[in-house]
Amino acid sequence: MTSTPRPGPVAYHRGAFVDAATAQLPLSTQGLHYGTGVFEGIRAHLLDTGELAVFRLDDHLERLLAGARLLRIDVGATRHELTEVVGELLRRNGLATDVYLRPVAYKLGLLPGTRPGVGLSGVSDALSIVVSALGNYQPEQGIRCLVSSWRRPARSAIPVRAKITGGYVNNALALDEARSAGFDDAILLDDRGRVAEASTANVFVVRDGRVVTPPADGDRLPGITRDTVLTLAADLGVPTAEAELDGTDLLRADEVFLTGTGCGVSPVIGIAGRPVGDGRPGPVSTVLRDTYDETVRGRRPGTRGWLTTFALEEALR
Ligand SMILES: Cc1ncc(COP(=O)(O)O)c(C=O)c1O
Repeated sequence: MTSTPRPGPVAYHRGAFVDAATAQLPLSTQGLHYGTGVFEGIRAHLLDTGELAVFRLDDHLERLLAGARLLRIDVGATRHELTEVVGELLRRNGLATDVYLRPVAYKLGLLPGTRPGVGLSGVSDALSIVVSALGNYQPEQGIRCLVSSWRRPARSAIPVRAKITGGYVNNALALDEARSAGFDDAILLDDRGRVAEASTANVFVVRDGRVVTPPADGDRLPGITRDTVLTLAADLGVPTAEAELDGTDLLRADEVFLTGTGCGVSPVIGIAGRPVGDGRPGPVSTVLRDTYDETVRGRRPGTRGWLTTFALEEALR
């Protein structure tokens, strides 16, 4: 007896819900050649109620749309319409588990009459969104970081407030260097030797009970998780400050942790071959990690409208 194969993952691609495995793009896609695209990493968590709760969806979509405007990309949808697309995509995929959403808006093809070459005007635009199951992938015992020899480019070179696809070659080189040397992640300094960020996360240190992170207006992405953690720390009565940090501040910190949509709150237990504190996740990092994990799963009161919930209905294929 044969059974009907389970349909594969569904993507949103150029205005339609399609089979993610067979969706196509022309080889001439400009975003592929020149890095002229902008993306987001968004998480949805399975709640105890069986619904999926997307964390800070409005903020992620706002950042995507702002980045798209910067690159003259017309996403072709408002934030409200994108929210509906996300809900429909989650329903069609029917994943009853924690989920990662990756929207990417990019330059597609030259419009008639446009001179070939690198450019933003006279090029058509596209938006695709892929979805995958993704649980917590960070080791409970914490991670070890290298301070990268690659520097974070100045925002006068590449805008850093948007997640611009081409800019991520810097992050990829830094992470590759760290992984090749046996570390879990890379911390990058800016061109003045100040702590910029990790490969895909913001950096925090804890010293004398105070949580410190570099200001959001430097050569770094102002992370949504960073903002969440600063808010949660204040709720918990943990003092916080925004101040520039250098490599020495990392080495003399009592605790170091990273924040990002992918990694959540991730304690760093070693930097450049030296232990951070006693080489185990410290108390402040641990309480912030637990509080963050409870918040994204709707297990704490007062989530400030951060959760957009969708019921998982039968797929509408
Ligand atoms: C370079 C970089 N910095 C920081 C972050 C953390 O940002 P968020 O907390 O908004 O995910 C990310 C991840 O998106 C990133 O790619």
